[in-house]
Amino acid sequence: MGIYIEYNTDKKFDFNYEDVIRSVIIEAIDYVKCPYKAELNVTITDNEEIHEINKQYRDVDSATDVLSFPGLNYVEPGDFKSIKKFLEENHEDYFNPETDELMLGDIVVSIEKVYEQADKYGHSPLRELAFLVAHSMMHLFGYDHMTEPEAKEMEGKQEDVLARLDITRDKDIKMITKVTKEDEALIKEAKKAMKFSYSPYSKFPVGAALLTEDGKIFTGANIENASYGATNCAERTAIFKAVSTGEKKFVKIAVVSKKGAAYPCGICRQVMSEFMNENAICLVEVDKEIKRYSLGDLLAFSFKL
Ligand code: THU
Repeated sequence: MGIYIEYNTDKKFDFNYEDVIRSVIIEAIDYVKCPYKAELNVTITDNEEIHEINKQYRDVDSATDVLSFPGLNYVEPGDFKSIKKFLEENHEDYFNPETDELMLGDIVVSIEKVYEQADKYGHSPLRELAFLVAHSMMHLFGYDHMTEPEAKEMEGKQEDVLARLDITRDKDIKMITKVTKEDEALIKEAKKAMKFSYSPYSKFPVGAALLTEDGKIFTGANIENASYGATNCAERTAIFKAVSTGEKKFVKIAVVSKKGAAYPCGICRQVMSEFMNENAICLVEVDKEIKRYSLGDLLAFSFKL
């Protein structure tokens, strides 16, 4: 699944906005049971730019919090069955020819509105961003709020998606700590990769799975050597496999091990920081439990030239 986030403003979020956006999008897609692999674009901008876009595309002369540009027309909101035949017949118009993913549309969010509205409603900006993305996703699935019953239905669905992620109005959320749908899939791949670990010396098998921005997964296992020092960790195996096939942008990594804690070593953290930003998510298996960190949490002030 390709989630492409563009950042068009110099104003900064003070929480992991990329994780929030990805998690809400994936949860929403799962919630409506979209049967296709999908992709979409999210642009973060400011009041000035969203005002311009609002004027240009909707003829509304004011700034707004979020704009949604659905790529599809639905017969019934959120119902993919009724457009299945149409989509198949017009495959080239609705699926990205390179990735074969369904192009769900575009979301534009004003960071200034996120903070203004969080303040107004007395909840965290994380909750506000998650709410706006969930709302916009429902628009991308054909829901609307023109009439009272329609609005109620749409709101209910948004809240369901947020509740699944444990993002509620009353909690002051700084980071998503719940293992998400996307996390689960990645952990499963890391566990499969661990089976190929070559670790006769330490007897400590490790598996890793790396997610690229456009949704590809590369896996790796630790490969040891009689000289000990020539050992390659699972994370670096996965990263080097990916980079050597032309991939350079990674958004998430899962690291698992049957025993103990699979915290990446210092060298792996440094290698990760070459190709992943501080918001990238690192899922680490610790005594059979998955812990969720951002790379920034695991490696502060990483070395950069
Ligand atoms: N190991 C990894 O695969 N990843 C890490 O980041 C930590 C260590 C492996 C290397 C070696 O094969 C075994 O764990 C024991 O150090």
